[in-house]
Amino acid sequence: MNKVFNRTLITSALPYANGPVHIGHLAGVYIPADIYARYLRLKGEDVLFIGGSDEHGVPIALKAKAEGVMPQDVVDKFHYIIKKSFEDFGISFDIYSRTTSATHYKTASDFFRKLYEKGEFVEKTSEQYYDEEAKQFLADRYITGKCPHCGNERAYGDQCESCGTSLSPLDLINPKSAINGSVPVLKETKHWYLPLDQHEPWLKKWILEDHKEWKTNVYGQCKSWLDMGLQPRAVSRDLDWGVPVPINGAEGKVLYVWFDAPIGYISNTIELTDEWEKWWKHEDTKLVHFIGKDNIVFHCIVFPAMLKAEGSFILPENVPANEFLNLEGDKISTSRNWAVWLHEYLEDFPGKQDVLRYVLTANAPETKDNDFTWKDFQARNNNELVAVLGNFVNRAMVLTHKYFEGRIPVCGELTDYDKETLTEFAAVKSELENYLRNYRFREALKEAMNLARIGNKYLADTEPWKLAKTDMIRTATVLNISMQITANLAIVFEPFLPFSSVKIKQFINESNLQWSQLGQIDLLSSGHVLNRPELLFEKIEDETIERQVRKLLDTKKANELKEHRAKPQKNNVVFDDFSKLDIRVGKVLECRKVPKADKLLQFKLDDGLGGRTILSGIAEHYNPEDLVGKQVCFIANLEPRKIRGIESQGMILSARNTDGGLSVVYPSKEVLPGSEVV
Ligand code: MF3
Ligand code: ZN
Repeated sequence: MNKVFNRTLITSALPYANGPVHIGHLAGVYIPADIYARYLRLKGEDVLFIGGSDEHGVPIALKAKAEGVMPQDVVDKFHYIIKKSFEDFGISFDIYSRTTSATHYKTASDFFRKLYEKGEFVEKTSEQYYDEEAKQFLADRYITGKCPHCGNERAYGDQCESCGTSLSPLDLINPKSAINGSVPVLKETKHWYLPLDQHEPWLKKWILEDHKEWKTNVYGQCKSWLDMGLQPRAVSRDLDWGVPVPINGAEGKVLYVWFDAPIGYISNTIELTDEWEKWWKHEDTKLVHFIGKDNIVFHCIVFPAMLKAEGSFILPENVPANEFLNLEGDKISTSRNWAVWLHEYLEDFPGKQDVLRYVLTANAPETKDNDFTWKDFQARNNNELVAVLGNFVNRAMVLTHKYFEGRIPVCGELTDYDKETLTEFAAVKSELENYLRNYRFREALKEAMNLARIGNKYLADTEPWKLAKTDMIRTATVLNISMQITANLAIVFEPFLPFSSVKIKQFINESNLQWSQLGQIDLLSSGHVLNRPELLFEKIEDETIERQVRKLLDTKKANELKEHRAKPQKNNVVFDDFSKLDIRVGKVLECRKVPKADKLLQFKLDDGLGGRTILSGIAEHYNPEDLVGKQVCFIANLEPRKIRGIESQGMILSARNTDGGLSVVYPSKEVLPGSEVV
């Protein structure tokens, strides 16, 4: 059963307006969405491409608090920075708006109210932490405390960033308010829940049976959520930043950011066109959400459940989520400044938007996480954009200027080789379209590049610069064909490299080219006058790349310094507790590795008490031989313990460097074995 669609509504995840955008955003979401939108527009289809900033949520409220400004100030700053980056990179939104717009407040409130009135929510009262000094409930992120799993003292109420465990605020040991450090109390509060459990049956059918064609990473994640069983989800929060819950008795409560943000797609469409209902409510609209993998559950399960509950909206036809892009082997991180920021890229590489678009598409994390490296960036620029695409277009243009004064020469009779080339060329089109339709943009780009390769090979094989010495008629044919290929490249690269496509169109002095003309060889008629070409791409030198790598190394160093802060001090102990420990000095008589234990060293000590064996986990930091004869400090009265079948009678003291290294502690003057440390 293939549905017939008459228009395509493309959305791309609304980025949080609490920082600028980086290459990960571009590669994961905005470039694929843009390629798709441009492709469909070129084909003459009816398309809307919706974007905007996501301006609510706790991290934005927290950032404002930390900087002593209002949340609105934070989002105002970043909304415009983000919007400009997208414009600079040619992301062809029909609208880029924001979730603090008046239209959005109204749309989101109406949406909530409709669900509320239809009885689509479940109301529940539960106990949540409340800060009595600040007089407010604390969102999970606003509560810090000790992680019950790893002991990290600075875990958050939703997650411990040290061991990665997800937590609930009630799990934290010694919870504290992040606002003022006070100890929060539990207090009852009422919230509205979307009963996803009740939606589970139709979601299961709709996704697992009716949308088997979704990308395997998307389908797999949905399946595992559905297999685990869905739980009701709160759609409101006790917070002072967001869209107020639009019903009586909900003072101090706002819509949960993941409830209001996807409605932003609708709000922005409303802001754009009075015909918005056609785009959101007619079954012949194909709705496609472009997102990153961390957004899958919200777009495949939660938002569809909201739309279904509302009752008058269509559901997405596809959600082609991408995986993550890493940077030089490490996860991109805003807080650790581990990113290539789009605005900084353009400062360092002005005019080279298409180079980044190319590399990020060629290397897109479509099916698995991928890595961006500056070396690969350079190689793809030099070996592909310069050597293949740029080289072909430039040679075709320059030769036509040289031999035919910049006019398209007359095409004579085609040889078998010409025909072969053109057949090969035409065959690529259907492959390429197939990839585009199936959201496989990196494969599609490869095919586009193959067209340039075919052109390059054609010039290399026919050698018109030699032909021109003997046979101008044949030269004319070869250059006519080369220029037709060039015009085709302007069409085919438009979705991927829009800036370069415009340049090629300027070179060939022809701006009116449609996708449907792709594969034709009569795009430029003989006598048509060409403009002078410039270089499409230029080589990127080693030094340029080394500068970028150095910049990242500096970031890494700065982060290491930051991360290696001293641990916070432990709670006080009374002197009596301290004096229970019997710490002594001993002399190392023997020291060797414990077989099959990477970390353990086995010591034989002269402890002044007849000798003892102690195991210590410092094997990664010392050669055993280097410790023989040294004096060490050890806890003598620690309960003996058997490790790997050997009894360890105490513990050798080491200093743990803030970078994790271990260094054995010894007295600054030699003392007799058995001396007490006091
Ligand atoms: N701001 C979210 C993120 O960056 C994405 C929101 S997508 C929307 O992860 F659908 F909610 F708008
Ligand atoms: Zn932890």
